[in-house]
Amino acid sequence: MPRQLSVGLLGQRFMGRAHSNAWGQAGRFFDLPRSVRLACVAARDADELAPFAGRWGWERWTTDWRELVAADDVDLVDVSTPNHLHAEPAIAALRAGKHVACEKPLAGTLEDARAMRDAAKRAARKGARTFVWFNYRRCPAIGTAHELVREGRLGDVYHVRATYLQSWGGPATESSWRFRRSTAGSGAHGDLNAHLVDLARFLLGDEVAEVSGALAHTFVKERPLPGGAGTARSDVDDAALFLARFRGGTLASFEASRLAAPHLNANSIELNGSKGSLRFDFEDMNVLRFHDARDGARLGGWRRIVCTSAGDHPYVDAWWPDGHLVGYEHGFTNMAADVVRAVAGRRPRLPLPDFADAYETQRVLAAALRAASERRAVRLSEVR
Ligand SMILES: NC(=O)c1ccc[n+]([C@@H]2O[C@H](COP(=O)([O-])OP(=O)(O)OC[C@H]3O[C@@H](n4cnc5c(N)ncnc54)[C@H](O)[C@@H]3O)[C@@H](O)[C@H]2O)c1
Repeated sequence: MPRQLSVGLLGQRFMGRAHSNAWGQAGRFFDLPRSVRLACVAARDADELAPFAGRWGWERWTTDWRELVAADDVDLVDVSTPNHLHAEPAIAALRAGKHVACEKPLAGTLEDARAMRDAAKRAARKGARTFVWFNYRRCPAIGTAHELVREGRLGDVYHVRATYLQSWGGPATESSWRFRRSTAGSGAHGDLNAHLVDLARFLLGDEVAEVSGALAHTFVKERPLPGGAGTARSDVDDAALFLARFRGGTLASFEASRLAAPHLNANSIELNGSKGSLRFDFEDMNVLRFHDARDGARLGGWRRIVCTSAGDHPYVDAWWPDGHLVGYEHGFTNMAADVVRAVAGRRPRLPLPDFADAYETQRVLAAALRAASERRAVRLSEVR
């Protein structure tokens, strides 16, 4: 009988639901070396926890994350709380010898992220593993893009053009932890550019050397409090843009906004190289566009590849027949399956980001904010 992986989850709202679904589904669709047990969920709202636990199959619940982190029967702690509540439970879990899967960005601040990276390094000596939920890596179309770059189908990559555009952040949107620097760290930048920087690093297999041309702006400075209880200041960026030069010479642009109507969750990345180009748009997430320069001027152009072919496109063999599309939740389930493989000593289908990897993304984000506030180019070597 395979051993179990017992999971404890922190948070039960947006990501709490996505992760509960992923842990519950992974063993149903993938052949995994361990079964997944949904042992315990912790969050703040006691009234919501019992129905949540019942609906998603968590065996028990608690409003005290310390109790969950200390529990003998929890092997992996899944952190899906607001950004300022990543470091403390993650580090406590690592000290207790547990694996940790944490939501992105790794933390709200570079200091927290560094402490997490260092704790992960120490815990790794005793076998603890860390993971960060950069779920978009595990869309089959992105996985295919990763493989095509590795096969040299793009040649030298000249450009990365990455935009993550949403529109839910207008003046009527109520205040929450997402609009306070003390709880979120930053706004659209840490929320959305985090994904773009991870995707660019993942696809290129290269690191940013310098950022410049950065702008971050708070358009909506005051937001209504929930329940009509007045207003609260918003002190995070609603939009953040910057340029970057990778060590290998690739030039990149990044743009994140919560005010880019009518875009909803338009997470897009394009790579242009000497031998070919790739383009991905999450709002058409099953599709990868590829241009092969060998086709010449007569036949060249964007080829529309529907990435749903088992055996050809990553993860698809676990799901549905060709053309039976996958959605948002599949990225999380694909990642949960890879995490189970990794803790059992098997290879994940695609490389998984750990705390050290996510810390590199966090350094780029911190460099961009410094470049914006100091109005100058910032070398990554300045950001440790
Ligand atoms: N991977 C992605 O694409 C993605 C998408 C959305 C959010 N996120 C990340 O996931 C994290 C959570 O975001 P969300 O949208 O789920 O937030 P949310 O506001 O929907 O949920 C936050 C949860 O944390 C719980 N919580 C808050 N304080 C707590 C405490 N002291 N102890 C225990 N639980 C506590 C709340 O009860 C709630 O259940 C953030 O880091 C966010 O950046 C990632």
